[in-house]
Amino acid sequence: MSNLLRGIPVLSKRPFSSSSVLLRADFQLTQRFSEKGFTQEEMVHSLDPSLDSTYAASLKQSCPRDSTNPNLEVPVDTRSPTVNDANYYRDILANRGLFTSDQTLLTNQQQQVKRSFHIDMNVWYFLYFHNVFVLLKKEIAPATALWLLPLFSAADMGIKDTSSYYKIVGIMVSSKKLTQLCVTFWVAVLFCRSVQSHLQVGFYRNSCRRAESIVRGAVRDALRQDRGVAAGLVRLHFHDCFVRGCEGSVLLDSTSSNKAEKDSPANYPSLRGFEVIDDAKARLEAECKGVVSCADILAFAARDSFDLTGGFDYDVQAGRRDGIVSLASETYSNLPPPTFNVDQLTRRFSEKGFTQEEMVTLSGAHTIGNSNCRSFTYRLYNFSGTNSQDPSLDSKYAASLRKSCPQDSTDPNLEVPMDTRTPTIIDVNYYKDILANRGLFSSDQILLTNPATASEVKSNARSPSGWKKKFAAAMVKMGQIEVLTGNKGEIRANCRVITAEVRS
Ligand code: HEM
Repeated sequence: MSNLLRGIPVLSKRPFSSSSVLLRADFQLTQRFSEKGFTQEEMVHSLDPSLDSTYAASLKQSCPRDSTNPNLEVPVDTRSPTVNDANYYRDILANRGLFTSDQTLLTNQQQQVKRSFHIDMNVWYFLYFHNVFVLLKKEIAPATALWLLPLFSAADMGIKDTSSYYKIVGIMVSSKKLTQLCVTFWVAVLFCRSVQSHLQVGFYRNSCRRAESIVRGAVRDALRQDRGVAAGLVRLHFHDCFVRGCEGSVLLDSTSSNKAEKDSPANYPSLRGFEVIDDAKARLEAECKGVVSCADILAFAARDSFDLTGGFDYDVQAGRRDGIVSLASETYSNLPPPTFNVDQLTRRFSEKGFTQEEMVTLSGAHTIGNSNCRSFTYRLYNFSGTNSQDPSLDSKYAASLRKSCPQDSTDPNLEVPMDTRTPTIIDVNYYKDILANRGLFSSDQILLTNPATASEVKSNARSPSGWKKKFAAAMVKMGQIEVLTGNKGEIRANCRVITAEVRS
């Protein structure tokens, strides 16, 4: 049968047991066979075994063997004939493809088709592909074998935290219009490649299956030595994402010709956790060399730190690639200093795509960790030339801070915990402290001076689980800032050094 079909410029149909012509196109089919000297009986043999028997029975009912009506029709997609959806493909998988040419897709490329269509697809792309496919079928001569099989995978599609890749397996064009369609199709391919560039959960599922658990192992081991490092890792991710996006620039070391972000006063000497990322990277390189980016390791490590210190586990999208530029000078205009007021903070966060509410939510990260005395001593002594403390700071708290950070100290490394009660546990004490005028930085305490931010502080203080969920969502959003994906950037072999530089 398939040999006979070669050279017939119409869509091939399933041959029914009926000798009569059932669908309009079958007239043409019968005619073509007759031109080649075949009878209709010869053309139409027994019921196609690849056709689902219940479906075949209903088709037989709609298209009786002895009907003389040449205009009998059935919907191609019985469930949603007027809706452009994925049922065409689902039907093929259920052996309900109406035409042989439909069902053939399954028999000839079974694995690929199954993989291709058993996924949650990007609707626009699906509509596009379906329409092009229909047009192609109308245009193409069966002699010109068309195997247009987009191979999707949920992991690559970029929808619902996934992205896509697909391949076209052979395409032979037979008309001008078809060529145009193919050009359009390839434009869509390029578009899809850009869709593919999105981050996705489970990005390393196939390329480095244990990537996330390896990072978690490294973080867990580090926390066993020093629980405080969790705060460092959360802050590292924040400082990475706010400067040039989440592309690991904060991890790069300075060179003789360049002062890197980590050596800016905003980061040095307070930023910590670099050795945990190095350890995770070394473990990953041993398991899957050159696969997992430093930027992703940082995003995973921040999540693990949050979770392991009493936070809340959340899915981290991945697929970031590492940048090759890190400039200390860029930290000043991107990282918020602790002296900012609400408007300045709101503007800085809004520049990065966050709402004011998200800004208050993220500030709750100050529930863990330490601060160098330098970051707040201006509030303790001679505040704004008053020769006194910042009046918005609780006086008892100010006195204890003065003890920890004496005015005449020459030690540049003096630190205090930011949440005095539970400095290594994720909770909502940060917000409770603000309400008690015990916010360590002006940028913390100032949140009480604005009605909207004050209301957020109060609501977060009341709802630990609500805040944790919001925090997790905001962290996911932060992890998306100006990421490098696809073929941009690189995958560093050592998070401190640009690999491109090492190679050149
Ligand atoms: C709202 C604006 C923010 C300002 C002005 C600010 C400022 C600061 C400052 C001055 C320190 C102490 C640094 C030092 O030791 O001198 C600090 C520590 C910290 N910040 Fe922020 N921060 C802000 C937002 C955030 C955000 C959004 C996060 C994370 C999502 C974060 C996480 C942390 C953590 C965890 C620490 C403790 C780090 C450690 O113990 O190593 N901060 N922050």
